[in-house]
Amino acid sequence: MVHLGPKKPPLRKGTFEGLPQSFLKEIEHYETLFTVDKTKLKSITDHFVKELEKGLSKEGGSIPMNVAWVMDYPTGKETGTYLALDMGGTNLRVAQVTLDGNRSFDVVQSKYRLPDHIKVGKADDLWDFIADCVDKFLKNDCAPIEEDRIGDKVFIGFTFSYPCLQSAINHGILQRWTKGFDIKGVEGHDVVPMVQKAFERKNLKVQIGALINDTTGTLVASNYVDENTQMGCIFGTGCNAAYYEKVKNIPKLEGLCSPDIHPDSWMAINCEYGAFDNEHVVLPRTKFDVQIDLESPRPNQQSFEKMIAGCYLGELLRLVLLELTAQNLIFQDQDLSKLETPYYMDASFLSQIEDDPWENLGDTEVLFRSYLGIETTEPERVMIRRIVELIGTRAARLSMCGIAAMSKKMGYKSANAGADGSVYNKYPHFKQRGAQALADIFDWDMAPSKYPIKVVPAEDGSGIGAAVIAALTRARFEKGLSLGVAKKK
Ligand code: BGC
Repeated sequence: MVHLGPKKPPLRKGTFEGLPQSFLKEIEHYETLFTVDKTKLKSITDHFVKELEKGLSKEGGSIPMNVAWVMDYPTGKETGTYLALDMGGTNLRVAQVTLDGNRSFDVVQSKYRLPDHIKVGKADDLWDFIADCVDKFLKNDCAPIEEDRIGDKVFIGFTFSYPCLQSAINHGILQRWTKGFDIKGVEGHDVVPMVQKAFERKNLKVQIGALINDTTGTLVASNYVDENTQMGCIFGTGCNAAYYEKVKNIPKLEGLCSPDIHPDSWMAINCEYGAFDNEHVVLPRTKFDVQIDLESPRPNQQSFEKMIAGCYLGELLRLVLLELTAQNLIFQDQDLSKLETPYYMDASFLSQIEDDPWENLGDTEVLFRSYLGIETTEPERVMIRRIVELIGTRAARLSMCGIAAMSKKMGYKSANAGADGSVYNKYPHFKQRGAQALADIFDWDMAPSKYPIKVVPAEDGSGIGAAVIAALTRARFEKGLSLGVAKKK
């Protein structure tokens, strides 16, 4: 019997027919501003490779290339039940992960939205919020934990998705807040004891055994299920990636490793490449990108991230729309108070516009009315949809420069990059646009299914990765192998 299969999403032809000349001129202007062609992608990638190398050098560069102290590839045979805590830019997740030793796992998890006020509030409020969530999870959602204890405490892998300088697996000095967070008294300090104290305030018998970046978690989780995975990436509220480097190719580690860490052993590197091009040499920044940067809590930081990550896509569109209103081209005589509020829209606003299947962009009309209190005309919506496509396409194309740069640097002939994050998982066409950008950078002309470097989904990878890293850490601990820089005698 022949089945029809799932219904394909309706395709919108989307012509510019009937658009006033002034709108066509604007579209052309934004196309020039936001289009990143093949040649530019290649030159960004080449510069990126050099910057990755600089980050590994003793002198350092703007990309931190943080050593993650995960020194083993998983075998896929790891077993055990582990607790994982995952603090991203938008959500907090607590999970109990069971690794079954057969490249598969089981997860029970609870997800909590991080309240906005906490992101710019007091440090202890954040840590207490985290401790509360762990407490609730242990009391209500989690099966009793028999194994994986340190003394009388349960070992927890803490995924903290901010740049941390680590001298050991259970240690991490926050270099700077990203993704719009701005909490005093944390930058420059080890976050592990701060969270640990909050656990103690609640009498929680939980011990942070490993501090992990979400990209390192995604890398390790993806490699646990598929050994061809060499990179772990996040395209979400923020952007970043991790990969494994040979210890001997990390000059800044020279003299810092114990003899049990052989120069030929692998070391996971959390690139923190959202900071790529902080010196503004190669990225095609528009005046909107410059404004976002200057008005952010940390100007001149995370330049790459601010052009492509979910945290900033809504703001980018808002600034373009404000420019059009200032020229009296759109939304005349309307209440713009919501549109004038910084960060009023997030990336899902753009996703909904790109997802609108109707020729007259009827869903977009409802969205502007209900969310911004603005009535739109059809030509306005057609122009806005094109601008949104340009912003989304630029984000996807630039995002691939990081993956291409790691691949070039490591000389991968064939590799997968496990990917997670709201933009990767939910933003329409991001995957296809990204694959096209990789093909442009490497001049591939085969079918996309044959591309040697592929970005593959790794949803919720960071929590699972925390569990696999906990298992790897325990194994090293039991063998008496080092988990950080050599102790000075
Ligand atoms: C952080 C990284 C993180 C990335 C994705 C960036 O803002 O600096 O540590 O991996 O966001 O969450």
